[in-house]
Amino acid sequence: MIPNLLRDAVTVNRLREFAFGNADFEALRTLVKQLTGINLSDQKRELVYGRLARRVRALQLKSFAEYRDVLANDGGKEIAELCNAITTNLTAFFREPHHFEYLREHVLLPIAADPARSRRLRIWSAGCSTGEEAYSLAMTILECLPDRRRWDIRILATDLDSDVLERARRGSYVADRVRGLHPERIARFFTQRQERKELHYQVLPELAALITFKQLNLMHPLPMKGPLDIILCRNVVIYFDKETQRNLFARVAQLQRPGDLLFLGHSESLFKVSEDYALIGRTVHRRI
Ligand SMILES: C[S@@+](CC[C@H](N)C(=O)[O-])C[C@H]1O[C@@H](n2cnc3c(N)ncnc32)[C@H](O)[C@@H]1O
Repeated sequence: MIPNLLRDAVTVNRLREFAFGNADFEALRTLVKQLTGINLSDQKRELVYGRLARRVRALQLKSFAEYRDVLANDGGKEIAELCNAITTNLTAFFREPHHFEYLREHVLLPIAADPARSRRLRIWSAGCSTGEEAYSLAMTILECLPDRRRWDIRILATDLDSDVLERARRGSYVADRVRGLHPERIARFFTQRQERKELHYQVLPELAALITFKQLNLMHPLPMKGPLDIILCRNVVIYFDKETQRNLFARVAQLQRPGDLLFLGHSESLFKVSEDYALIGRTVHRRI
């Protein structure tokens, strides 16, 4: 007679293509936390299986135990694939549009109207995923500062995931991805082309020229010098525990001067995380 719990585990594993025991999940979640800061709760067990079973299959392995061997012994090659597979990359053009409105009303239009203001602006999109956030920033800038050449503006857009960065650099999006964009913006900032029966929207070089995409793991030292006028770190730290968030924002704060801005995602906050910022609007923070 098999006890209930054991029977359930046997049944689940039988339904699965690859054996995936508790030791596999625990070892992988420890590794993911160390590498990326991403905290995988018990509820993420099936998600981890689903995302990594693809890697086990691609490497023609028979089990997660074999996969863990590869991770430990291939000189770090599979680590990058593990990170790419485990990150959640959901994003959209003008996601959480109030940040772009804030930028327009409180930063770009005022500097455009005041000849005495600095003409230099440095913006960082931290955890940029496939680039929509950075291109939305670039569109907002070009809309507010038509005479672009009079300004020294750079957007740095970074992510840990090399796959999404490659797509971000390409700047080509299928129709579904641009559906929410105002038709005027599509007409002004994209060209269309047909590719394998699908319509693709390519960002104009004028937009791309404002942005530098770079791979950067937020768990590693931050190599930029600063100061950074505006940082968007949206829907990234939601996957980190408080300690990891505290450590990250202590380093982020070093890159900003009093008055500089930090935008977080809709369900993120600096409560019990950082005292270097004051909340001044909906998920808008000002460096103190
Ligand atoms: C859900 S997306 C958010 C994209 C965009 N900021 C937005 O709000 O639409 C989160 C991104 O954070 C990235 N990320 C997760 N952990 C990271 C880390 N340790 N370092 C750098 N990027 C990371 C993921 O690869 C993913 O592309």
